Amino acid sequence: MNPTILAIESSCDETSASVIQNGQVLSNIVATQAIHEQYGGVVPELASRAHQQNIIPVVSQALQKANIAKTQLDAVAFTKGPGLLGALLVGSAFAKSFAMGLDLPLIEVNHMEAHILAHFIDEPKPNFPFLCLTASGGHTQIVLVRSHLEMEVLGQTTDDAVGEAFDKSAKLLGLPYPGGPLLDKMAQTGNPTKFQFPISDMPGYNYSFSGIKTSILNFVKKNTAAEPDFVKNNLPDICASIQHVLIQTLLKKLVLAAKELGVKDIAIAGGVSANSGLRAALQEGAKKYNWNVYIPAFEYCTDNAAMIAIAAHYKYLAGKFTDQYVSPDPRLRI
Ligand code: KG4
Ligand code: ZN
Repeated sequence: MNPTILAIESSCDETSASVIQNGQVLSNIVATQAIHEQYGGVVPELASRAHQQNIIPVVSQALQKANIAKTQLDAVAFTKGPGLLGALLVGSAFAKSFAMGLDLPLIEVNHMEAHILAHFIDEPKPNFPFLCLTASGGHTQIVLVRSHLEMEVLGQTTDDAVGEAFDKSAKLLGLPYPGGPLLDKMAQTGNPTKFQFPISDMPGYNYSFSGIKTSILNFVKKNTAAEPDFVKNNLPDICASIQHVLIQTLLKKLVLAAKELGVKDIAIAGGVSANSGLRAALQEGAKKYNWNVYIPAFEYCTDNAAMIAIAAHYKYLAGKFTDQYVSPDPRLRI
């Protein structure tokens, strides 16, 4: 089998389309929605409208860049969930209509599984079973990956996602949205042990990140009362210290799971895997615990359709198709 698949991603604020042929990504077009910046977060209604505007040009570009005609396609894939309902509706309705018009089979993809399967786009590819820490703006999970199609969530956040913790912390420090990448940038010249922030330890492999926001808020209030320019004067150190505590928290449970399950192949996925501190911490883990670590290329960390395409590739090979009655599921689980 040598399938050529068009894949659509529209779960949040990125409209993306990708063409994959026999497991090789031929194109991956991503339109980021700048409109949300002025609101300091993703506005669901505006995201849906922007997807509606972007979807046709993004799909046309993806086909053009791949040099693939619509008639050469074997299937159409889309993100079923999790994500924002209105955003998912645009991608799924488009994919269904496109597939119906061309009489092609449809493939539904779980966004979180796709983040993990992004590791199968390029070499080196992880060996099964492996552990994947998926850290994004909406999720924080430790997943045991047994095969391309069999995954089990071992632990997850009980409240905020770590990406949200990055973004909310950055917002408290006055950095513009999305703050995660900016906080990362500022942290690079700061001292990670200058300030201490407490973080709750949850049972098993679970996480909690909601308390960090309050502790940072109190920390900023207290120090600003004594020194009005405290944040401005200490920004790199504050950012480095916040990043440090978030990464240490992520790593602690990952190390525990790897040890208890005896797994040596360790991967990270999702938007937060673009974080330089997390990438460095994983490399250190490789040395310390004798892990084989897998870190995706930057372009495949944040939301993109190439990851939906590679997930669809494996589903196609396994004959896992869906029908025209499918609807998006904003709370879809692994
Ligand atoms: O996977 P993703 O693109 O979208 C979701 O499915 O959520 O993840 C976006 C999240 C945002 O919270 C963003 O701030 C965070 O990933 N992020 C980062 C970095 N790059 C993206 N967080 C920390 N450091 C980064 N370099
Ligand atoms: Zn994502």
